[in-house]
Formats: sequence, structure tokens, C-alpha cells
Amino acid sequence: MANLTGQERARYVQNMFTRIARRYDLMNRLMTGAQDVHWRKQVIKLAQIDQGSHLLDLGSGTGDLASEALRQQPNAHIVAADFTLEMMRVGQAHYGPLNWSAADALRLPFKDETFDAVVSGFLMRNVIDVSQAFKEQFRVLKPGGRIVILDTTRPKRNLLSPFIWIHMHAVIPALGGMVSGVRDAYNYLPDSTESFLTAEALSARMIAAGFKNVNFQRFMFGTIAIHHGEKLA
Ligand SMILES: C[S@@+](CC[C@H](N)C(=O)[O-])C[C@H]1O[C@@H](n2cnc3c(N)ncnc32)[C@H](O)[C@@H]1O
Repeated sequence: MANLTGQERARYVQNMFTRIARRYDLMNRLMTGAQDVHWRKQVIKLAQIDQGSHLLDLGSGTGDLASEALRQQPNAHIVAADFTLEMMRVGQAHYGPLNWSAADALRLPFKDETFDAVVSGFLMRNVIDVSQAFKEQFRVLKPGGRIVILDTTRPKRNLLSPFIWIHMHAVIPALGGMVSGVRDAYNYLPDSTESFLTAEALSARMIAAGFKNVNFQRFMFGTIAIHHGEKLA
């Protein structure tokens, strides 16, 4: 991964998600002990949408966040956007007719100030240019709109660090290999988490992109973070 160009890395990510799409949701439940279901509820709560709000689930994959948003607000306008068609195909078979959109997070096909909220789950670690992705999310948000980001993050060192390391580097790849048949995709998970920005550095990038009231909470022994912020009116 380290010696790939940006475009090559984006193609690698697309190809990887194409290969694991059918088992992606099951692996999420298994890896997190189904805790991801609670984090997704929390993400949509933090998005503070109401009836008639427009929400973008960016890097939607199979649409778990988008469908949670529809569950919490059945009359909201939800768009699920991703650049891996196979993930959306699996999601469409599972969740039915959400508004699916083929979109690259670095060049969003939406007009300025379209959405009241942009949420993402496990996307930002994968994009090749984090600042550009934030710039695009800022652009498509309405003034007063909210951004909420769920992703893995590097935990601070503590007594549990050796166990977390074993879980990330041994248990998850072995389980991922058995369930999806694509072990390298689940080696990519710890590798991309460790090479990603710290939670504090991600906040700093959000602030640099123009977001205000930026904050984050950690979950699951510090390995997961939910960041949120606003585009002030
Ligand atoms: C780990 S999956 C997350 C799926 C879903 N959001 C969830 O919460 O489970 C990451 C998704 O981000 C998508 N992705 C990565 N880079 C992207 C980009 N530049 N533009 C759009 N989607 C991207 C991948 O195709 C993949 O479906």
C-alpha cells in the first residue's frame, strides 16, 4: 500500500470492497460484537435531522447509516453515495429503494448547500485526500448543516494495548479470511487504522476545512471515534 500512488490506492480500495461486499455487513457485526449498530444510531442522532431534512450518507457502502437515518426520520430525504457499485448493489438487495448515487467523495456530484447533514461510516480512513474530502462535504452542506464521522482510530496506549493489537492483527484477519475469503482486506483494516490521522489530528483537519464546534467521542476501548461539527450559518 505504502508505495501505491493516490489513484492506485483508490482503485485498490474499490477492488477490495467489491470483493468483500457480500459478507461486509456480517463481518461488521462479528468484529464489533454488533456494537456498530449502536454507534450508527448515535451518528444519526448527532446529525440532528428532522422531517424533510436532506442527509447524505457518504461512502455509504451497503447503506447501514442511510437506512438508520430513514428509520429515525422516515420523511427525511436520504442519499446513499459510494464509489463501489457492488457495495450499493448488495445494499439495494437488502434495503430496497434508498436513493443510491455513484459518487467519489473527492468530487461530489451535488450542488453547493444541498444537505442538512453529511454522515459517513468508516469512510475517511480510506480516502486518498482527507482535506479535499472535507472541503467537498463542507461545500455541499447548507449553512447550519452538520457533519458526523464514524471511523476506527488509534487508541491511546494502555493496559489493554497488547490485547487490542492481537484482536486487530490476528483475530480480525483470521475471521475476515474465513467469513469473506479475502484475508488481505482484513489486514488492510489495522494497517489503514494505524496509518490514519489520530482523533485529535482529524479534528484539526475538520477545523481547517471550516467546521466549527468540532468534537469527538471514543468507543470500544478507544478504537472507534465519532467526530462531529457544524458549518455555521
Ligand atoms: C468500510 S466501508 C463503509 C461502508 C458503510 N459506510 C458502513 O458504515 O459500514 C467504506 C466505503 O467507503 C467507500 N469509499 C472509499 N473511498 C471512497 C471515495 N473516494 N468516494 C466514495 N466512496 C468511497 C468504499 O467503496 C466503501 O464502500
